[in-house]
Amino acid sequence: MLSLRHALTFFLALGTTVAQILTLTASLPDSTLDGQPVNADGEAFSLGGSPASYCPTEVGTACPNVTATVFAGMSALWVEVPGGQEVYVQTDGALGFTQAHSASVPPGAYIGGFSNVTVASDCHAPWDVITWNAPDGSTGGILACPEVPAGTNGTAIYQVYAKTPAFNKTNCVTLAGLLPTYLPAGSPFGAWQYI
Ligand SMILES: *[C@@H]1O[C@H](CO)[C@@H](O)[C@H](O)[C@H]1NC(C)=O
Ligand SMILES: *[C@@H]1O[C@H](CO)[C@@H](O)[C@H](O)[C@H]1NC(C)=O
Ligand SMILES: *[C@@H]1O[C@H](CO)[C@@H](O)[C@H](O)[C@H]1NC(C)=O
Ligand SMILES: *[C@@H]1O[C@H](CO)[C@@H](O)[C@H](O)[C@H]1NC(C)=O
Repeated sequence: MLSLRHALTFFLALGTTVAQILTLTASLPDSTLDGQPVNADGEAFSLGGSPASYCPTEVGTACPNVTATVFAGMSALWVEVPGGQEVYVQTDGALGFTQAHSASVPPGAYIGGFSNVTVASDCHAPWDVITWNAPDGSTGGILACPEVPAGTNGTAIYQVYAKTPAFNKTNCVTLAGLLPTYLPAGSPFGAWQYI
């Protein structure tokens, strides 16, 4: 069992070595959202809080210690589970990721579309962030949209969206983008799987 897992891990690592390993924070100078970590949370991404993850009991203490939501490029999460977890943008703009053991993305979801962009500002030296653009170039940008989770007391959690052509939320904050922090090649997996 253990050796099979290691073989699969090795195989997965080989397949993804080209992707840079990184974490992301919201970038919006002078906003309370600035610097908030982008965390996996219910097959979507939220700002702040902590990542939602899962470790099967049969893997137990061999699971990575989860301290952050770690990405492998902008198209996958840096996870140990065989098959990995793919990052996508839903038609309504919500960034999401596939469940473990499933390659299915929601109908019409976009894969890719992320790029680096340099932000110019009157008040700050230019800086580089990651943004998203629709394949036809008609819309683009990254937003944080407040949601008050059911059963809670009104404290909003900001969910990460890309401005897709069908994006239609009106109460969102447009971010400068997502600020990447690149981790060294060979950094440990962020989690067995995010949920
Ligand atoms: C996780 O952290 C615990 C306690 O610090 C340590 O014993 C364990 O080896 C760590 N697991 C991994 C996979 O690094
Ligand atoms: C916004 O888009 C969703 C589908 O993504 C749709 O169900 C909803 O009716 C739209 N709302 C408005 C106000 O257009
Ligand atoms: C952004 O730039 C870095 C460094 O050049 C590169 O490795 C990375 O793939 C780029 N990210 C995207 C989303 O294009
Ligand atoms: C909910 O809001 C009320 C009124 O502001 C406050 O008294 C109460 O402590 C809050 N409960 C929680 C769980 O935050």
